[in-house]
Amino acid sequence: MYSIAIDGPAGAGKSTIAKQIASQIGFVYVDTGAMYRAIALYLLRKGVDGRDRETIAALCPEIKVSLAYDEEGKQQVILNGENVTPYIREEEVGKMASVTSAIPEVRAALLDLQRNMALTTDILMDGRDIGTHVLPNASLKIYLTASSAIRAKRRFDELCAKGMECDFNQIEQDIILRDKQDMEREIAPLRQAEDAVLVDSSDMTIEEVVSAVIAEFNKIK
Ligand code: DC
Repeated sequence: MYSIAIDGPAGAGKSTIAKQIASQIGFVYVDTGAMYRAIALYLLRKGVDGRDRETIAALCPEIKVSLAYDEEGKQQVILNGENVTPYIREEEVGKMASVTSAIPEVRAALLDLQRNMALTTDILMDGRDIGTHVLPNASLKIYLTASSAIRAKRRFDELCAKGMECDFNQIEQDIILRDKQDMEREIAPLRQAEDAVLVDSSDMTIEEVVSAVIAEFNKIK
């Protein structure tokens, strides 16, 4: 059984490339950020303050997150029986997820679930702590990054293409804040695992990143 861990900051293109690689090599793709987003959505709907550890820890036992795959093999996130996939991509949910994922009880609620997934099938998992905590023995670890300016530019272009109003400086500030929160939290912070291959996608196309990761996988397979 093989497992590939792809970690990196928000907006580095992890999910785009991870989906393409998983489909090319026939692995199940697990987007762990979506699981943290589902918990954040639950807490937002409850109107809880994202920094209120005590309240959130008390709510954790009633939050059940699971993953399912549709006919096309696309990951669906199920929150207490409801498919919340359409609601978790909002900016507000991502920001809340970055805050609430620092709470130990939230991380503990997802850890076993994520680990167990890698026991039964070849898996490609992306997130912040996959190579460092979730799958420390992963067959291949990739740390995918890009400069904050490039990540902000990609996000800006994506929002403009959707016809949404956006402010480049605000987007870049949000990305820098998200990096800080994800890298400076006490438990399982975002960092490159010692044995991870660094891929800086700042000057690479999606195809180039996909080929580079597949080439790394071919080396260890
Ligand atoms: O990758 P994303 O934007 O969907 O992730 C949302 C937040 O979830 C991210 O800012 C931090 C948290 N997260 C985490 O703490 N650990 C992971 N393995 C994945 C995401």
